[in-house]
Amino acid sequence: MEDIKSEVQKRYAEIARRQSSSCCSSSCCGADAQWAPLVDYGELPADVPAEANLGLGCGISTRYADLRPGQTVLDLGSGAGIDVFLAARVVGPEGLVIGVDMTPDMIKLARRNAIAGGFRNVQFRLGEVEALPVADNSVDVVLSNCVINLVPDKRRAFAEMYRVLTPGGHFSISDIVSFGEVPAELRQDPDWWASCYGGALDEKEYLRIIEEAGFVQIEVPHREAVAYPRGENYGFLSITVVGYKP
Ligand SMILES: C[S@@+](CC[C@H](N)C(=O)[O-])C[C@H]1O[C@@H](n2cnc3c(N)ncnc32)[C@H](O)[C@@H]1O
Repeated sequence: MEDIKSEVQKRYAEIARRQSSSCCSSSCCGADAQWAPLVDYGELPADVPAEANLGLGCGISTRYADLRPGQTVLDLGSGAGIDVFLAARVVGPEGLVIGVDMTPDMIKLARRNAIAGGFRNVQFRLGEVEALPVADNSVDVVLSNCVINLVPDKRRAFAEMYRVLTPGGHFSISDIVSFGEVPAELRQDPDWWASCYGGALDEKEYLRIIEEAGFVQIEVPHREAVAYPRGENYGFLSITVVGYKP
């Protein structure tokens, strides 16, 4: 697990550093051109820096998050901050959006983007999804975009979300899941993991883990096939899933 996490961190640190030197943009959940970007945010609001969108997401988690003014929102694996800034515009000055990421270079980049965009209701904290630097029962909405597939211990990730959410709070997560029989050698390949496919669980198993963590009213409002990678007997989907803490 630690090998996988350090490979993931290495990949995203490289992407952040490349962006910081404004050399070129990344493509997708991976730095490699073979993986195509999965999300088109369209034109960003003027105050959201273009550098906040590294093309690393696999859905638009904010679209299904039912965000409201004054809420406290937490974005897991916030990268350069794109979803944090979009959420911050909705929760407004009475609200707060916290981004957590385990890669120091990503946190640095996101903080720089927050200053560039003039966002005062955001915080970026260095930390892990499996041990969130966030108090119990303190968050109204958890967001995450293309991150949970990268986390080796997904049960732990959903247990942490449950811990920090207020009763009645909810999550909106965009992620990659699989269907069919993904070959074991691909699942164990660190490059596939860091590219968001190796660690993508079968959709049914993913939803079962969420249910077993205690969440209710679990729904998948968006589901879309990923064109590539795909084998004869397997493939991947981009889904957005929502669920509530009772
Ligand atoms: C595919 S990128 C997505 C970034 C962002 N959500 C977006 O849509 O642009 C994955 C991000 O999650 C972070 N990450 C991966 N595993 C993590 C973990 N276990 N804890 C915290 N952050 C993690 C990486 O550092 C990276 O910034």
